[in-house]
Amino acid sequence: MIVRRAGRLRASVRVPPDKSISHRALMLAALAEGDSHVENLLDSDDVRATAACMAALGVELEWPAGASAARIRGGGLHGLYESEAVLDCGNSGTTLRLLTGLLAAHPLFSVLSGDESLRRRPMGRVIEPLRRMGARIGARAGGTLAPVAINGGALRAIRYELPVASAQVKSALLLAGLSVEAPVRVIEPAPTRDHTEKLLAAMGAPVAREGRAIAVRRPGRLRPLHLRVPGDVSSAAPWLALAVCHPDAEIRLEGVGVNPTRTGLLDILGRMGADVELLEERESGGEPVADIVARSSSLRGVTVEGSDVPRAIDELPLVALLGCFAEGETVVREAAELRVKESDRVEASAAMLSALGADIETAPDGFVARGPRELHGARLDAAGDHRMGMLGAVAGALADGETHVERDAVSVSYPDFREALAAAAPGTARLA
Ligand code: S3P
Repeated sequence: MIVRRAGRLRASVRVPPDKSISHRALMLAALAEGDSHVENLLDSDDVRATAACMAALGVELEWPAGASAARIRGGGLHGLYESEAVLDCGNSGTTLRLLTGLLAAHPLFSVLSGDESLRRRPMGRVIEPLRRMGARIGARAGGTLAPVAINGGALRAIRYELPVASAQVKSALLLAGLSVEAPVRVIEPAPTRDHTEKLLAAMGAPVAREGRAIAVRRPGRLRPLHLRVPGDVSSAAPWLALAVCHPDAEIRLEGVGVNPTRTGLLDILGRMGADVELLEERESGGEPVADIVARSSSLRGVTVEGSDVPRAIDELPLVALLGCFAEGETVVREAAELRVKESDRVEASAAMLSALGADIETAPDGFVARGPRELHGARLDAAGDHRMGMLGAVAGALADGETHVERDAVSVSYPDFREALAAAAPGTARLA
């Protein structure tokens, strides 16, 4: 992608559907009794990987190419079949982690793998508690890396304190818990996205929050889902960063999911003094939704730590960019998890923004950016990490001259990102 500095920005953008909810809707619908209808499903590489895995497990799924709605024929809690082939999760950590939990509880032999990036991502965090539940799982590198081989079967209950705040690990254990009579309890160090729990509750599963714990028991059956997926706040995030850092911008984002477990960036922007407004707050698919208007702002540096970290986990690279436009220091800490995402996002954020002229320093668990700084175009490599691709693109739209973003991988979560940027700011973005 080649990006130039954006002139006056006035745009209204409908962001793509939520990726986390799309994955979960496909997996959970497969376990329901009867047909589920999911509208506004995200048609991106990651979610297509989940759909392909479910189809390989025998799930009947009607989701033609280019269609935003899908029908999924649920086969019930025991309706999956053994896949003949390795389940290819592509680049998707959510597919790999959640399916590991789900399949640990099914009397099938399953092998899960994915691309080079996914095969480097930690799996011990899911495998270790599943083994405590009695699961027989093997994996490369001493049980820590994909490919993962599962000899699924009966599991026992567990009460498990998550060592890291991870919605993927929590969800994997809750999905495994759907097969266990006594409650499976997962205790979170800090709240993480709760879409799995919400969908399970909507399907009639006995799932309850008990303080920091979430408990689930085997349901008699799961009701089918009838759902319209809201817009993805993580895909709204690059636009929010662009608008508030730009000298003459007003961008309206329509139909964005604003589940409080996902809106850490909105709170961080508020503390930075950004002009961001939520309008027409409503509900869709059991999730709070709003339009968000973001305008050019004077920003001040802030410190991001503690419970803001999991609530903004995928947006923290954009906080580094905000830090380049804010007065003073912007510090992100307690965010070592960033190092084990699709890429090491601490180093990748610092490398990309430094190439553009930022003053940014990394730490083992985060970074410090000092601003304000004037950014200039450069050649960037997103190394196949979609969030880094979008960071590079919006940074390029704020920088003087021309920025080349190589291996942007935006099709993982936001397939028409480049076209949307080119439409919002004509002449800004084009294909290399
Ligand atoms: C996700 C959870 C987060 C997030 C990822 C999607 C999910 O990962 O970074 O993009 O859908 O559950 P962790 O659970 O590893 O923090």
